[in-house]
Amino acid sequence: MNAIKPISPDRLPDLLRSMPKAELHIHIEGSLEPELIFALAERNGVVLSYSSIAELRNAYAFTNLQSFLDIYYAGASVLIKEQDFYDMAHAYFVKAAADNVVHAELFFDPQTHTARGVGMDVVINGLHRACVDAQNELGISASLIMCFLRHLSEEDAFETLEKALPYREMIIGVGLDSGEVGNPPEKFAKVFARCRELGFHLVAHAGEEGPPAYVWTALDVLKVERIDHGVQASKDALLMQRLAADRIALTVCPLSNLKLCVFADLASHNLMHLLDAGLAVTVNSDDPAYFGGYVNDNFTQTFAATGLQAQHAYTLARNSFEASFIDAATKRQYIDRLNACFESFT
Ligand code: HPA
Ligand code: ZN
Repeated sequence: MNAIKPISPDRLPDLLRSMPKAELHIHIEGSLEPELIFALAERNGVVLSYSSIAELRNAYAFTNLQSFLDIYYAGASVLIKEQDFYDMAHAYFVKAAADNVVHAELFFDPQTHTARGVGMDVVINGLHRACVDAQNELGISASLIMCFLRHLSEEDAFETLEKALPYREMIIGVGLDSGEVGNPPEKFAKVFARCRELGFHLVAHAGEEGPPAYVWTALDVLKVERIDHGVQASKDALLMQRLAADRIALTVCPLSNLKLCVFADLASHNLMHLLDAGLAVTVNSDDPAYFGGYVNDNFTQTFAATGLQAQHAYTLARNSFEASFIDAATKRQYIDRLNACFESFT
């Protein structure tokens, strides 16, 4: 790829929207829009503690990660049947296609569902069928990453892994999410070691609200290949060097960080600092139905607030493909498409 041409500020949002990209940090339960929550509640006879869509939306005023998680787990309670999981993921893929997402790796939280008596088969078959249709109908390649809830025990994670093993071929990797502070990565050392033996790709949320020490142990104890969020790494110069040297991707989610008060405003987000330090940063939506936007909203709002330029856009999109768990040939094709987009953009 030749040097990236500078682009006038008024054309930048169009470039950000039209460039092909991969989304690597999306909790599929976090794509449940209030309208779908109410529709599924009615379909399944689930009683919600909110009387209207507007009342539910009004509750989306978060002060930290836990204040969000409480509402997010309540929203997921409407998911009962395989078709519900399919409909949720299909709605996400339609939105992702409109944002020119060509590849997506979806997090899902099986324990949120199995704890309510929903079978692992129901969860995975519904999500997997939506992934297959995303490829066939929308041209999006998609795969599933199973996350363990870190506020639960490692034993519970092991039981979840056991239940998921019959669906091994439908799961590309495992991750770690939910309340971070007080639940360090090393709490899950044994189950991640087992997942590594089984050949799963490994990722973990670390350094969202938690300290740089959690990013270190995600790398050195869990041996993850990517860090989800990781924005707190900028507080540790040695960690920044390590992440840059090993090309460990950070799946950063600016609107999530804004809504969960990790940064006071988007202008003070450290995305540019992380990029300038040579880290393999990507931009993602995390829980788009709750945080006010899908991946293109994350790009356009963050670029407008921080002054990032076309060169950064290229780097971020390219990083998203480089850091993905797709095969080398497909990766090459996506990067060729990205290069063609930048070359022809006027
Ligand atoms: N952090 C931790 N757990 C989560 C998140 C997040 O941003 N979204 C959904 N589960
Ligand atoms: Zn997340």
